[in-house]
Amino acid sequence: MCGIIGYCGPRAAKDVLLDGLKRLEYRGYDSAGICVASAGELTIIKRTGKIAQLREIVPENLPGVYGIGHTRWATHGVVNDVNAHPHTNCAGDIAIVHNGIIENFSALKEKLVNEGHVFRSQTDSEVIAHLVSDFYEGDLETAVKETLQLLKGTYGLICIHAKEPGRLVGARNGSPLVLGVGQEEMFLASDVMATLSHTKQVVYLEDGEVVSITNSDYHICDLRDRPVDKKIETISWELENIEKQGHPHFMEKEIFEQPESVLRAMQGRIDQENATARLGGLNMSTTELRDIERIKIVAAGTSFHAGLVAAYLIESVAQIPCTAELASELRYRNPIVERGSLYFAVSQSGETLDTLSAMRELKRKGARVLGICNVVGSSIAREAGAGVYIHSGPEIAVASTKAFTSQLTAFYLFTLLIARMHNMSFEAGRDFIACLEALPGLIQKGFEEQNHIRALAEKYSRYRDFLFLGRGLNYPVALEGALKLKEISYIHAEGYSAAEIKHGPIALINDETPSIFLVPNDSLRGKVISNMKEVKARKGKVIALCVADDAEVRDTADDIIAIPKAGELMYPFLMIVPLQLFAYYTALKLGRDVDQPRNLAKSVTVE
Ligand code: G6P
Repeated sequence: MCGIIGYCGPRAAKDVLLDGLKRLEYRGYDSAGICVASAGELTIIKRTGKIAQLREIVPENLPGVYGIGHTRWATHGVVNDVNAHPHTNCAGDIAIVHNGIIENFSALKEKLVNEGHVFRSQTDSEVIAHLVSDFYEGDLETAVKETLQLLKGTYGLICIHAKEPGRLVGARNGSPLVLGVGQEEMFLASDVMATLSHTKQVVYLEDGEVVSITNSDYHICDLRDRPVDKKIETISWELENIEKQGHPHFMEKEIFEQPESVLRAMQGRIDQENATARLGGLNMSTTELRDIERIKIVAAGTSFHAGLVAAYLIESVAQIPCTAELASELRYRNPIVERGSLYFAVSQSGETLDTLSAMRELKRKGARVLGICNVVGSSIAREAGAGVYIHSGPEIAVASTKAFTSQLTAFYLFTLLIARMHNMSFEAGRDFIACLEALPGLIQKGFEEQNHIRALAEKYSRYRDFLFLGRGLNYPVALEGALKLKEISYIHAEGYSAAEIKHGPIALINDETPSIFLVPNDSLRGKVISNMKEVKARKGKVIALCVADDAEVRDTADDIIAIPKAGELMYPFLMIVPLQLFAYYTALKLGRDVDQPRNLAKSVTVE
């Protein structure tokens, strides 16, 4: 993970770097640092903690109009001031920031140490600074390129040399790097969010590309020095999209944005006349779509849970075999790619390394892989070349919320499209569309329970273990609800199929382990109520999510959270939003760092 930034321009570099790092903080936040160059000298300031703490020790009048910065999510070496980036060579005239992992760093370090280099940190990254220094003969770009030939692993990196004023060299392989093109100023960053307040003109670097910038110019080439012609793209996000806009946390803002983000994900994609969906980004002909024999979804974290819901949905509604698998598992098990299979790589960030690597391996085996991504121009979106953008707008809180419901929306539309080609009637298509179109309003209505959910979260916040239980389409929602609570409140929570508790988890039930049951008004309702009664019989406390007038659930549970009535297939949307709020309010009550929970990062670009 980690976030990196570089700046060349007329302004005080320290301000641009610190503001940019603040925007990149979601990528890692255990330590941070900047390096600013002025009058042939590099000044490095770095420390453990967040950007706000780094800001405290950066002098107001620090000179320098070019520099680099880093916010860290530790991989090699404990979290401390020394291991924070930037790292330098022995002479202290070359500094680097790096996102990724240098897998062969031990061998490189041993060789460098034998040659007399003195290392200060325990990081893998420091070797880069020493290697660049070894290769340096008056041209930083050449030295960086020669260094890259020796590196195995992943990197997005930026390098600065005290003797080359106003110049930075960046490179990428497996970790993102974007060039921001401003008016007499240039930026390099892990993500466009870091530069959005300065420029919307960007160039996305590809793996194997090296970029050299000054305040007024840039050039990009490959490792063999061949120039690469790249298109400048314009970002459509507005600055306000990445502000909290009056909310105390990004997570709260993003939860409450869901009526609009779900609507955005379906806008322009519903074809009423033919009772189907329009997903032009798939780039597949009707014949190709009809010929799909099975569908496989690969993803990580919350995106994986969206994929699990989709697998249930696609198989039951479109009658096409569909499974979801963790990308991290698939990539190392030599998967069989059968003819007629269509794959989806699902990722909010579009940068999750496990998902990207799984996708690459599938493509190597000849698979057709479509992306379902939020971040436009991200690695997965670009490499997939086709798919569905979910258009959630920037999601900044580390715990994913609105991306989940937008990913679901994309999959529901895809299901409609495919089902209409197979077994779904025109009338059923129309009904499905009506249910989808009702969702933004129903999610909004669900917010009427906000204060009650907050009160419940406070009431239950003293418990240390929770079970989240659901069935069918809502089983993956139970997994996602448990994940939300774990991620931001640090309370141990497990998601299970409600049917499965008798095979083990019921042993955990006592009056100290509350269970949260998802009991929608669907065909499995009766079964879930029986499971709930089994828990009550063992003195377990039960919070149930059910429709307001479900008297039986109300009588059985200790507490309920009312959800609006909806089409049977739509409950995952209406169940997850209260669970996100429950996790959010629990974390608030416990005083947790909601947007940046400990040990996590939003974009996981390491294995
Ligand atoms: C990290 C984040 C999760 C996210 C997962 C997958 O673990 O903390 O919130 O669900 O990565 O991310 P992606 O961007 O691929 O959806």
